[in-house]
Order: sequence, then C-alpha cells, then structure tokens
Amino acid sequence: MRENIVTSDNFEQYLISHPFIGKPQNLYNSMNYIMQLGGKRMRPKLLLLAYQCVANELNQDAYKLALAIETFHNFSLVHDDIIDNAPIRRGKNTVHKEWSVATAILSGDNLLVKSIELIMNTSFANKDKLLNEFLMLSQQVCEGQQIDLNLPTQEIITEEEYLEMIRLKTAVLPAAALRMGAMAAGANSENGDLYYDFGLNLGMAFQLQDDYLDCFGNSSETGKLEGGDIIENKRTIMYLHALKNLNSEDKDKLQSWYDNPAHDNDMKVKSVRDLFKKAGSDNYLLKLKAEFEDCALSNLDKACHDSETKQQILSLFELLKTRTA
Ligand code: IPE
Ligand code: IPE
Ligand code: MG
Ligand code: MG
Ligand code: MG
Repeated sequence: MRENIVTSDNFEQYLISHPFIGKPQNLYNSMNYIMQLGGKRMRPKLLLLAYQCVANELNQDAYKLALAIETFHNFSLVHDDIIDNAPIRRGKNTVHKEWSVATAILSGDNLLVKSIELIMNTSFANKDKLLNEFLMLSQQVCEGQQIDLNLPTQEIITEEEYLEMIRLKTAVLPAAALRMGAMAAGANSENGDLYYDFGLNLGMAFQLQDDYLDCFGNSSETGKLEGGDIIENKRTIMYLHALKNLNSEDKDKLQSWYDNPAHDNDMKVKSVRDLFKKAGSDNYLLKLKAEFEDCALSNLDKACHDSETKQQILSLFELLKTRTA
C-alpha cells in the first residue's frame, strides 16, 4: 500500500490548513466560508488521482494544484449562485445571501485570482503549460455560463446546443483537472488527452445528474433549493425532450409555466415535474447520462495503467454515478 494514497481526508486537511488570509476580514471570511462548507471535492480528487497514476507518488505541489482547481470551482459557484438567484448551497446560505451581492462578486473575483496564484506558486517544470490549460478552461466556463443565460431567450434550442453548453460550463473543468494532474506528473500529451476525454465524458454525465437532482432530488441531500432550475425557467434537456414529446395540450401547459410569472412556485415545480415524467424526459436524461458514463469508462481504460489508482478512480466514479447529493 502506497503511503501517499489519495483520500478525501488528505485533500480536506490540506484545504483546511491553507485558508486565505488578508484584509478586509469580511472578504476573506466569505472566501473561506464557501471553501470550507464541504462539497464532494470531485475535481481536486480527480487531479490528484491522475497525478498519482502517472508519478506513483503525491507531493505538496500536487496538493497545491488540486487546491487551485477547487478554489476555481468555488469561484464559479459563488458567481453562479448570484446568476441563478440561488439562496442555498451545500445546505447553507449562499455567499450573496450571507453577505451581499457586491461582496459575493468580489469574493468570487478574489478566489479566481487566488487559484491562479496557487498555480504560479508551484514549481512544476511545465507550469506555463498548466497555466495555459487553466486559462483556457476558465474562458470556456465563462462562455458556457453565458450560453446558459442566453438559452431561455432563444426561440429554438437543439439538444446539441444544450450539450455544448454543459460541456463548456461544467465538463471542461474535471477534464482539465485530470489533464493538469497527469501533465504535472510528467505524462506525455497523448496520455494527458486520454485523461481529458475521460473527464469530459464524466463531466457531461455529472451535469446531467445535476439537472436530474435539481428537479427530482431532495434539498436535504443536494443542499440546494428543490426545483431551482424550474423556478428559474432553465431549459434543461428534460424541458427540451418534454416539449418534443408531450401532446399539444400538455406542451402548452409546460410552455405556459415557463413563459409566465408563477404565483405559486411549489405548484409550478410540481406541475412541471409531472409533465417531465409524463413525457418520459427523466428516463431520457438517465439514458443519455449512461451513454456518457460508458464512454468515460472506456476512456479511463486507455488513460490509467496503474491498477491500484484505477480502482480508486473507479470507486469515485461509482459514487458520482449514483450520487444523490
Ligand atoms: C456543482 O458542482 C456545480 C456543477 C457543475 C453542477 P458540485 O456538485 O461538484 O458541487 P460541490 O463542490 O460538491 O458542492
Ligand atoms: C453550474 O451549473 C456550472 C458552474 C458553476 C460553472 P448549475 O447552475 O446547474 O450548478 P448548480 O446546480 O447551481 O450547482
Ligand atoms: Mg447555473
Ligand atoms: Mg446554479
Ligand atoms: Mg444545477
């Protein structure tokens, strides 16, 4: 058994022992608040596992790089919660609810800056390459988030456009985290790309599950507002599928919930959920998700050749596949 094996505890301890320090205190408190609220830590764990698989060890710089990725993720969540008007995250008030929208903007900005600083402070020989990867992914996340915002006002949305949106806003992050972990450990670019593909397919499945849980999960597990996407009129894959497959009367009902201000959000969420079920859109999403998971598994087979680490990645993958939080 290797000493430096990746465990949830190892990364959590590293994160807790490296809080952000500075003044004014409310700015730094809000950054440490979101960072320490928990979460699955999927992206840093994937990065560390890719690193371990290639280098057969872990070191402080690998943890620093993993912290950079988790810090970036938290930046994106703080701003995403402002954009999505979300009151709760990880079971607690979102940063803009706990402080203010203005502080949440600054908190997110500074988390982004800190994530870049963390990468700069590593001593990997190919740091420039890692930074480039990071800048590219940051840009793509912003593009994906903007497309997510644009979709509700777009007349016709295709499934391909939706999938491209979630690729950019969500899937490129685990993909880049894995490639960065592998490259930092000295993998060649061909091997790095195999990790990227694994992360991309895993990330697509992850966002589909996120959309499913937003609608059908429960708040005590997800730590988010139930039906938040429906309340915000998010045009997810289930909405697109339902519109195509409902009879014209039900289709009108669905459109009317999305096109008019709701007087009763609970009623809206319940009715839209029923329409999604009636159209079989929940099962459609789950089928699509399974296809991405299958692709991810075959990518992983090609990318990772250390059986012990591969087993760890598979365990994490299994947890994500069946997650309810
Ligand atoms: C939430 O990510 C944002 C999405 C891309 C769906 P996670 O579900 O990984 O959030 P935490 O970090 O576990 O809270
Ligand atoms: C978030 O997608 C993607 C990013 C944070 C970039 P969502 O808006 O679906 O994530 P949740 O559901 O709020 O976590
Ligand atoms: Mg969002
Ligand atoms: Mg959101
Ligand atoms: Mg969501």
